[in-house]
Amino acid sequence: MKRIIAPSLLSADAGCWGREVEEVAAEGIECLHLDIMDGCFVPNITFGPGQVGMLRKYGDMEFDAHLMIVEPEKLIPDFAKAGVNSVTVHYEVCPHLHRVLQMIRELGMKAGTAVNPSTPVEALAPVLPFLDRALVMTVNPGFGGQKAILPMLKKVEWLKKEKAAGELGFQIQVDGGVNRDNIGEFLSAGAENLVIGSALYQPGKTRENIRAFQEIMTPWQVEA
Ligand code: DX5
Ligand code: ZN
Repeated sequence: MKRIIAPSLLSADAGCWGREVEEVAAEGIECLHLDIMDGCFVPNITFGPGQVGMLRKYGDMEFDAHLMIVEPEKLIPDFAKAGVNSVTVHYEVCPHLHRVLQMIRELGMKAGTAVNPSTPVEALAPVLPFLDRALVMTVNPGFGGQKAILPMLKKVEWLKKEKAAGELGFQIQVDGGVNRDNIGEFLSAGAENLVIGSALYQPGKTRENIRAFQEIMTPWQVEA
């Protein structure tokens, strides 16, 4: 099983996002996590498809849009046009989740679904065969720099079990509060794509942080 880290641009310096994307691209980062917040589903606002499109030229890694917005289906086509490769919507805002996942795939992107800490992960059971990515939130969405809620790792273990039992293809992603001290717990539980914001993007230390995380992850890359 391949494990990767996905830097969250939310913690980068917004005054020079282009350079911040280039910097992680130079370290071989394969997936960049873009936190899209609407001030409605979550109590914070970030950026939209326009800004994402402008960033596209700074790196050719996977652009992974984590939509923390209500009615995501209204903006999904714009994110496709902006050059996003994968879109994750929140279970809590999608009464017609299967339809939204189909829409994402029809637009040529990978389809993901996230669950808030208070949402049972078993709610995803009916859509697991239609997912390219399942995202377990280990903080309440809205802000970077929060402490991980580690009991959420039980959800990761459940997903890992379901994935193996059903021979399913989705990737297990975790998001919130991952740092050098606790990343081992996320990896042990079965996380494959680890979003890291505040513990990765730090002025002058971003590249050394990426290398440190990659070194910690090395033994986990060999596990079947
Ligand atoms: C929270 C976002 C996360 C966040 C991660 O709503 O979805 O992606 O930026 O940042 P850290 O790693 O600082 O928790
Ligand atoms: Zn996120």
